[in-house]
Amino acid sequence: MSMPSALAEAARPSASSRTSQSKSNSENHKDTAAASALQKLERHILMDGFKIVFDLERSRGSYMYDAATGHRLIDFYGFFGSVPVGFNHPHFDRPEVKEELLRAAKTKIANSDVYSEQYAEFVETFTRVAGLPPLERYLFIEGGALAIENCLKAAMDWKVRKNMAGGRGHARNAAHSVAGGERGTEILHFRSAFHGRSGYTMSLTNTDPRKVELFAKFNWPRVSTPFINFALEGEAREQDVIAREKKSEEEIRKFIAERGVDIAAIIIEPIQGEGGDNHFRGEWLQTLRRICDENEMLLIFDEVQTGLGTTGKVWASQHFGVKPDLMAFGKKVQVCGVMAGPRLDEVEDNAFRLPSRLNSTWGGNFTDMVRSKHYLRIIEEENLVENARVIGERIVAALREISSEHLMISAVRGRGLFIAFDLPNPETRDKLWKGLYEAGVLVLKSGERAIRFRPALDITAEAADEAMAVLREQCGKLGS
Ligand SMILES: Cc1ncc(COP(=O)(O)O)c(C=O)c1O
Repeated sequence: MSMPSALAEAARPSASSRTSQSKSNSENHKDTAAASALQKLERHILMDGFKIVFDLERSRGSYMYDAATGHRLIDFYGFFGSVPVGFNHPHFDRPEVKEELLRAAKTKIANSDVYSEQYAEFVETFTRVAGLPPLERYLFIEGGALAIENCLKAAMDWKVRKNMAGGRGHARNAAHSVAGGERGTEILHFRSAFHGRSGYTMSLTNTDPRKVELFAKFNWPRVSTPFINFALEGEAREQDVIAREKKSEEEIRKFIAERGVDIAAIIIEPIQGEGGDNHFRGEWLQTLRRICDENEMLLIFDEVQTGLGTTGKVWASQHFGVKPDLMAFGKKVQVCGVMAGPRLDEVEDNAFRLPSRLNSTWGGNFTDMVRSKHYLRIIEEENLVENARVIGERIVAALREISSEHLMISAVRGRGLFIAFDLPNPETRDKLWKGLYEAGVLVLKSGERAIRFRPALDITAEAADEAMAVLREQCGKLGS
């Protein structure tokens, strides 16, 4: 599958951009400093992102400003879906909040060894706003991929110990063994999955080949992905997905029959993000739950991208009434990590109970935790998960209207603000993406020919409508 990098071909909005604004002389100095920021970075950094110098002061809500040009952009990209609440929320202007954040920013505590009131407050707030009982053991770590890695390690540890206790500890052959000959370290995963770009996750991620080729990988079981085909309607759509679920289940059961003792877990994104915004039926996730329960395997949900409210529920799995045994989170939480449930405790010395098995120097980022606590409070006080649902529905309705006017837009799909649509081919998708950027709307590419939206949870109806008007205009320009 060939898929250009989501941010590749970064282009600068033209001077005639509808969002360009006139600037005062007092801003000129800042512009020069901002422009030189790009030059300074270019000397040392591969800059394949948007050529924007983010204006930390001026950016507000869903409107991002480029400090180098003064251009305003509507942010449907959200730092790759990691912005929980729009820029410069007034909550952060309160003197006591400012003081708390500054205090936290001065010292990076090693949370794994030295504890703090701030850490405790974060954990308490996180549990209140985003807790998913009975997943009550937590691990915090920096980065979504490392959150996944630690889910995998916990699952391997669980399965290998179960195998050893059951006398299944001897390797069948070298390909299925770990150093000591133990078995139970393989992770069953899906086509078009994206779980990060670190060591173990290289064996799972299979979207853009450039992201994984030439790196060492394990030959872990990979099966087809029975996502809903939104290009089909009604009964045809359902029949198609049920047939593909059956096929995928057969593939899984075949792997289990051949090497079930080696498979520690099944991992899935409840909605695949980078792979193309691929949605599943709840019945499919329930099937995976059943397979894991029946075959001494753990179910891992990767909610790094779907998590913290973006789908209109705190966690996407809550739409489907299925609970995983391990869940990875990151992005909008602003702190990455793992939640683990009671099945882990079937093994007494599991990785969440035995010291030294899962750890890192910082045990999550202390300053991020303090900021995250404030974001969580804002989300709670302003009912932003519900806002994501309501505005998401508004955007999807607008997209359906645009798709009825412009044939190039198809397969509109969304839950909350986790929204995407297809274009006829990668070239048209790339043209539309570029046109939107030049007209002042930042969006993301997804899969081979989709565009996805990942705005902040507090996006307003006005910002959403404005972005949809720009989209309509761009579709008109592309001419179909
Ligand atoms: C579903 C999913 N899992 C894991 C990751 C990896 O997270 P990070 O980039 O923070 O390592 C991402 C990042 O986009 C993701 O979307």
